[in-house]
Amino acid sequence: MLLVNAVAPALLIAIPHNPQAADSCLSKYYYGTHGQQDIFITNDELCVAEMPSHLVVDGSLGSISGDVQQLVWLQHEAVDPAIKPATFVDEIDAFLSHLPTAAPTASDNDQVVFGERKAAAQLLHRTENSALISVDSETALALDQHLPAFWKASPLPDSPIDFIPVPSKAVERVKDILNNLKFDPVVASLVGNISVPQLRADVRYLTGESSASEIVSRHSFSSGVLIAAEWLKTNFENLGATCELKPYLSGFAPNVICSFKGSEDTTETVLISAHYDSRGSFGSTRAPGGDDDGSGTTALLGIARTIARKGVQFKKNVQICAFSGEEQGLYGSRYYAQELRQKDANLTLMVQADMLAYHAPGEPAQLGLPDRIGTPEVAQLVATLSAIYSPELKVGLTPACCSDHQSFHGQGFPSTQVFERAGPIADPMYHNSGDLSDRENYDFEQIKSIAKVQFATLLHVAGFDLATDE
Ligand SMILES: *[C@@H]1O[C@H](CO)[C@@H](O)[C@H](O)[C@H]1NC(C)=O
Ligand SMILES: *[C@@H]1O[C@H](CO)[C@@H](O)[C@H](O)[C@H]1NC(C)=O
Ligand SMILES: [Zn+2]
Repeated sequence: MLLVNAVAPALLIAIPHNPQAADSCLSKYYYGTHGQQDIFITNDELCVAEMPSHLVVDGSLGSISGDVQQLVWLQHEAVDPAIKPATFVDEIDAFLSHLPTAAPTASDNDQVVFGERKAAAQLLHRTENSALISVDSETALALDQHLPAFWKASPLPDSPIDFIPVPSKAVERVKDILNNLKFDPVVASLVGNISVPQLRADVRYLTGESSASEIVSRHSFSSGVLIAAEWLKTNFENLGATCELKPYLSGFAPNVICSFKGSEDTTETVLISAHYDSRGSFGSTRAPGGDDDGSGTTALLGIARTIARKGVQFKKNVQICAFSGEEQGLYGSRYYAQELRQKDANLTLMVQADMLAYHAPGEPAQLGLPDRIGTPEVAQLVATLSAIYSPELKVGLTPACCSDHQSFHGQGFPSTQVFERAGPIADPMYHNSGDLSDRENYDFEQIKSIAKVQFATLLHVAGFDLATDE
């Protein structure tokens, strides 16, 4: 058994994400933001006693002790009651009921079955919508294949990490852009040029619905995801970008990192992204990820195709990133955001697109921005650009959480996410092998409307010229 950590009896503190925690003594004991919770593990009683009460409102406390392996936070996603099966609590209870609450011993009898694997595991903490478990690291990486659809796994680091708020200078820069925003008819015509038939063709390749595609799954460990990675790289390169397949952790598909160099001599960079990996139903090898996140990935392609077609030359540097490992706990983006922080990258802002296509029947086309995780000023900028260039979208906040922008937010980069609904997740095919694009309420027009907003953000923040005909 591989021991990651032997903790003395310690207090587990989970509070709704709050950047102010960076200023408290708790910041020394920060284990990252998982779900919407900031997690702290400490036995510093003095600090706990001093903990400002405004931080603990709605927080949950537990204690952990003994030898632990890889700690994994499990979080229930915010989903609309309309798609919540009555059995959802039973499902997670059945899963968690296999896990002993006592620390495992060396005995084989203590092992828990995860599909074809047996592993020692322990349940350390449980609330209605979250849990903390300890398992070996290999099982931790594969948990998404054992969890009920609405639960996400997020592995904790082995030791405390820095709590890095977004620096006020970076926020000021975003505010400055927002304050100087003006309607630009050229931007309007560029974003309007994103082609819906092309979005359809691209997503059908990624889901394997097109007969030209051999992709069955884009699960991070599948063979299909590697086909998708190569295909994305080739496409972006054909559109004028410089791309790299960047591996980060053995077994995972690489991140696809593409860039367009700016015409100005500057380090300033604007980043848009999506995740190209996907997750299917429990027990099924099919993971088409048409909405999650074929839609966001396709939006990136739609934007790049328009950049190429219209001869857009950015002034600042632009990166277009398709991350993998999102479904296992934001792995790809975490590694990449960490790398950018280590390089002290000059990232003005980043906008992640995750799930853009599902349109609940009877509702208007929508754009949801994260209510808690992310930089409010970036969300405000995106909302304003939406009102200007995609007035057909009803904009609001969503409690759905935790896509790759969270990794950048955690490294102190201004960031936000664009999402399909101003409310909780309503797509009944969420984390389901039926997440195809050819289905009712999968709305290509909504993908385009939201992609227009992501593209307009890029154009306004990076600045651009149009290549003139010679
Ligand atoms: C995009 O612009 C091209 C010309 O550059 C034009 O042929 C095409 O019809 C436009 N597409 C849309 C959807 O506006
Ligand atoms: C980031 O880029 C901006 C614009 O070019 C520049 O003013 C600023 O000094 C750069 N910051 C760093 C840390 O390089
Ligand atoms: Zn997703």
